[in-house]
Order: sequence, then C-alpha cells, then structure tokens
Amino acid sequence: MSLRDIHTPVLLERCLELLAPALERPGAVVVDATEGMGGHSEALLERFPGARLIGLDRDTDALRIAGERLSRFGDRVTLVHTIYDGIKDAVGAAGAVYDGIKDAVSAAGAPSADGILFDLGVSSLQLDEAGRGFAYAQDAPLDMRMDQGAGMTAADVVASYAEGDLRRIFERYGDERLAGRYARAIVQARAAAPIERSAQLVDVLVAATPAAVLRDRSGHPAKRVFQALRIEVNDELGALERALPDALDLLPVGGRLVVMSYQSLEDRLVKRLFAAATASTAPPGLPVELPEHQPRFRLLVKGAELASESERARNPRATPVRLRAIERVKEAA
Ligand SMILES: C[S@@+](CC[C@H](N)C(=O)[O-])C[C@H]1O[C@@H](n2cnc3c(N)ncnc32)[C@H](O)[C@@H]1O
Repeated sequence: MSLRDIHTPVLLERCLELLAPALERPGAVVVDATEGMGGHSEALLERFPGARLIGLDRDTDALRIAGERLSRFGDRVTLVHTIYDGIKDAVGAAGAVYDGIKDAVSAAGAPSADGILFDLGVSSLQLDEAGRGFAYAQDAPLDMRMDQGAGMTAADVVASYAEGDLRRIFERYGDERLAGRYARAIVQARAAAPIERSAQLVDVLVAATPAAVLRDRSGHPAKRVFQALRIEVNDELGALERALPDALDLLPVGGRLVVMSYQSLEDRLVKRLFAAATASTAPPGLPVELPEHQPRFRLLVKGAELASESERARNPRATPVRLRAIERVKEAA
C-alpha cells in the first residue's frame, strides 16, 4: 500500500486552491512548514510544476519518509530539520542552495516564500507509532517529543513539575475540568514510584476520576491530559507564536499563508495574529486613512473554515480542523 492510500492530507484541495494564485507565478517558492509524511507537499509539487518546495519538520522520522516520497521531484525539494520558529533561517539556507535557480528568492535580494503552509499538530505517523508515547491507548515510554533528539520528555514533565504547574497546563492546554484532582493524584503517585510509561499515567488518571464522571464523560479521562502534556513538551503554542510573524514577513506582495489548526488555543492564536496583520494602523479619529496606515495583509477566508461533512466522514482527522488564510497586499513599511 502506498502512503497516498494510508494517509489523506486534510483539506487538500482547498489548500491548493488558496495557494494557487501565489504558486502559479514563475519560479515560485513554497514552504511546507509542517512536512509530516509529505502529503500536502506531494500535491503542491504535482499541481504547481514550476514551484520549488522547502519542507520543514522537527521530526527526523517524518523527514525521512517525506524524503522518500518526494524523491521523484529531485532538486525541486529541500527538506530541513528544524523547529519552524527557525523558518527564516531555513528559507535563507535553501536560497543559498538554489541561488540562481529560484528567481523569486534571489531577485528579491532577501529570503521570501510565495506560499507557506502550516498543518499543525501531530502527524498520524507520530500518533500511530506506539513507541513514541503520544497515544493514551497504547502503552509506551512517556516521551511525546516530536523531535526525539531534543528537550524534555512527558515523563520528565510528570516527574518534575510542581503540582500547581501540572494543574495549570492541564487547565490551559487541555481545558481539563479535573485538572487539580489529576495534578494531585500524579504528585501522590510519583512519590511512591516514578511514572515512566503511558499506561501508568492512564491508571493514575482513571483511578482519580470519580465513578460518576467516568460514566457520564464522553471521551477517555486521559485524553485532555495527554493533549496538554504534548503541547507543553513541544512548546507548540510558543513555537507557533514565534513562527507566524516570521512567516508573514517572508511573503512578498501576492504571497499567501494557510494555517490549519486542530485545537482552539492554536486557532485563537492564529486568529489574533491575522486580525492584527489585517487591521489598519491609523490612529483612532483620523478622518481619512493614509496609505501608510492601510493594512499590509488581507484575509482570504471569512472566519475559520471547517472540513465538509463528507470529508469528516472519510477522514476523522479532519473533524477538528480550522483553516485560516491570509495574503500580503502591500510591501512592508
Ligand atoms: C499534521 S502533521 C503534517 C502532515 C502533512 N501536512 C502531511 O500531509 O503529511 C504535522 C507535522 O508538523 C511537525 N511539527 C509540529 N510542530 C512543529 C514545529 N514547531 N516545527 C517543525 N515541525 C513541527 C510534526 O513533527 C508533524 O510531522
């Protein structure tokens, strides 16, 4: 079975349609900031034969798989192992590699990318690979790092955070109503024995959940805590908050950025940054908006777009998606 059969990229046609005006230009450069298994990248390279692609991922397993999948596109593809807050450097590096070939990058005399795509969160590869500890349904070491070579694991967080900090991340990143109770249970359990595997953590959480809640609750009691730990371990919101302004800076006039989020905190962050980028900077009370105060970006979709019912039925991963897109309409000041 090919990767194309196993893994269906979310809102694929819509992403291609939104990026098309930017990527149909000669020598266009597209950045796939979340390469994953290369599903969106493959379609972008097929649909826009004149475009070069720079794919970023913090996960070396993902880059290896994407590299094989995209090998037939030869030197149109550069894959870079980086956290996407390093997006500016990655484009700069690729600009050097392709100097002279990618007119759009070098002619500007500065790194730029005509189209940029963020398909946030974990990949099905990461979720399905039992050994990585992302899934509460499979027993594995509590790791949850997207980049297995760097940073704290979920076991480190569970072992070292104070009760109040655990409570805060469960509340903030998991919207968990029982955050305090779960934080207390973890602190008590780890005093008796270290919590190093996902099944151990699940047992602690289930034991701390009142029977009535276990009966009534939709979804597994560990679901929100696992999501919160994953966001904390990978500093997902911090990385996104740092990367998006850089991504906006990279767009030339007519350049487009598409972001797909899978949880509300991410989507709120994207919404807030896009709102700021598309707002006039005219001081309140000015009778006429001067050209220098006009927004540099415009929204390409109203609000957040969702997947259609038929896509959700075909691909459950598309259920929570919120897509937002923006285009640069004016040079930076
Ligand atoms: C949902 S998957 C992307 C799937 C991809 N669009 C496809 O079609 O195969 C998200 C990917 O982004 C990567 N990722 C998440 N946060 C990242 C970050 N801050 N920097 C770089 N890569 C990141 C993950 O490792 C994962 O492989």
